[in-house]
Amino acid sequence: MTPYSTPQPRTQPVTLQTLRNMKLSREKIVMLTAYDASFAAIADRVGVEIILVGDSLGMVVQGHDSTVPVTMDDMIYHTKLVSRARPHALVMGDMPFMSYSDPQTALANATRFMQEGGAHMVKLEGGGNIAQVVKALADHNIPVCAHLGLQPQSVHKLGGYKVQGRDPAAADAMFNEAQAMQAAGADLLLLECVPATLASRISAALTIPTIGIGAGPDCDGQVLVIYDVLGISAGRKPKFAKNFLMALPKDSEISVEAALRSYVAAVKQGQFPTAEQSFT
Ligand code: KIV
Repeated sequence: MTPYSTPQPRTQPVTLQTLRNMKLSREKIVMLTAYDASFAAIADRVGVEIILVGDSLGMVVQGHDSTVPVTMDDMIYHTKLVSRARPHALVMGDMPFMSYSDPQTALANATRFMQEGGAHMVKLEGGGNIAQVVKALADHNIPVCAHLGLQPQSVHKLGGYKVQGRDPAAADAMFNEAQAMQAAGADLLLLECVPATLASRISAALTIPTIGIGAGPDCDGQVLVIYDVLGISAGRKPKFAKNFLMALPKDSEISVEAALRSYVAAVKQGQFPTAEQSFT
């Protein structure tokens, strides 16, 4: 593990090459959601490498019970707010439900994310079913993060938010889909709610960095929803989440910035996630 001390203010923007180099040097990549300029600025200041403007905003900001109702206009609005903070972090826009149902639709909407929203990369949920879409985006030099495991936009098909890839056949299928995403041109792979051993196997096999959420400690990076880090999400706390604000030592500075700094340090030092936030 790379020794880690308090993050220094970043002077250079994070690029795909930065992330690839981090995988090679085994420095953990820290990703966090943000939906507005103020939180994005703090995340950037404490050393978060990737700010995800997640469609989770449909639940934590808009109060829906899933991400399905989120529209492209919603996503562009929030991506603009985050990009306006002029962070050094790489800004990733999360393509909402049905905004990438075929290559032409995906190209048009990814273009909006980059031209109107100021995003540097887009994220899409799906595996083999979106390989052609990922390839079309990659062929047009649009950086892509593929999202495997639990895909919240499919919640109505899945019948709930469940760990994916637990039985051997499903694990092998996900392993193959991860390879297919890399072959199609994905630059990053996000793994959500996946057994730690499977995420570890996928991360070791791929040359592109993996980012986990509920996917154990062996991914190349970690992501959390900022409202979970601050303990202000409504409803049941997911097993993979941790309230870093509450966990701050009582005799230390208690602030949003201190909580985010603590999250960054815990990921960098390999102290988050632990078995407590992982699945078997
Ligand atoms: O929308 C989102 O915030 C996400 C994360 C949970 C990874 O996709």
